[in-house]
Amino acid sequence: MIAIRDITVTFGGVIALNKVTVDLTDPVVGIIGPNGAGKTTVLNVLSGFLTPKTGSINAFGTELLSLKPHMRSRWGLRRSFQKEQVVDELTVADNVGVVLDSLPLSAAERERHLSAALEFAGLASVRRERAAGLNAFQRRMTEIARCSAGPAKVLLLDEPGAGLSQNEVEILRRTISDVHAFNGAMTLLIDHDVDLIQAVCSSTMVLDFGSLVTSGPTRTVLSDPRVRAVYLGVEEVA
Ligand SMILES: Nc1ncnc2c1ncn2[C@@H]1O[C@H](COP(=O)(O)OP(=O)(O)OP(=O)(O)O)[C@@H](O)[C@H]1O
Ligand SMILES: [Mg+2]
Repeated sequence: MIAIRDITVTFGGVIALNKVTVDLTDPVVGIIGPNGAGKTTVLNVLSGFLTPKTGSINAFGTELLSLKPHMRSRWGLRRSFQKEQVVDELTVADNVGVVLDSLPLSAAERERHLSAALEFAGLASVRRERAAGLNAFQRRMTEIARCSAGPAKVLLLDEPGAGLSQNEVEILRRTISDVHAFNGAMTLLIDHDVDLIQAVCSSTMVLDFGSLVTSGPTRTVLSDPRVRAVYLGVEEVA
């Protein structure tokens, strides 16, 4: 479980997160909310890009905020960014393998984790190609492979479905659904595609203007009038 307690983040006068407290327990948890709601800020706090003004985060017994970002990554926290970050000059295998380099693995163990992650993300056949030659979908899958490789504990995915076709989103959906069975990690998924969230996230948290609106089973959350009002732009009917 990830226990998020009283997290507040401010940028000057902007309150990006306002005393957010929530328990995340399911294998895949959705984070939704309108633009500027604070979704990416949650991932930034978890990964250590941002230090919150107040609060604590306990992830599977570890106090995350006391770890430096590189230690969190070594601990098993993995992240993909809203803007995809694949290095053109490197091969697919090297783009994925970079997360394994800081771990105490033998060459054989490294190769086993790398091959498994490439296979898992459907990239085994292009592992030696330079990333510059990949299409947008393969680049996204390269990030999923990088996040899934080795002893991962928590994957943070920021709008991985953005810009993909329906068929590609379907493959992405299946892959994200399989992460927990693949390596036991929990995934936190931000996406504006409510169909994707509904299909893959058993529970979902909703943010609006930096505050937690609600969290719980995705179906319940999506039918909550407060969520419909803030997220779907539907006025609540009294
Ligand atoms: N580095 C920063 N400096 C100043 N303000 C920031 C910074 N990062 C985020 N913010 C502000 O914090 C608020 C939350 O931003 P955040 O990026 O978390 O939203 P989001 O829910 O991910 O939105 P989107 O759906 O557009 O990606 C917004 O008002 C944003 O303008
Ligand atoms: Mg964002």
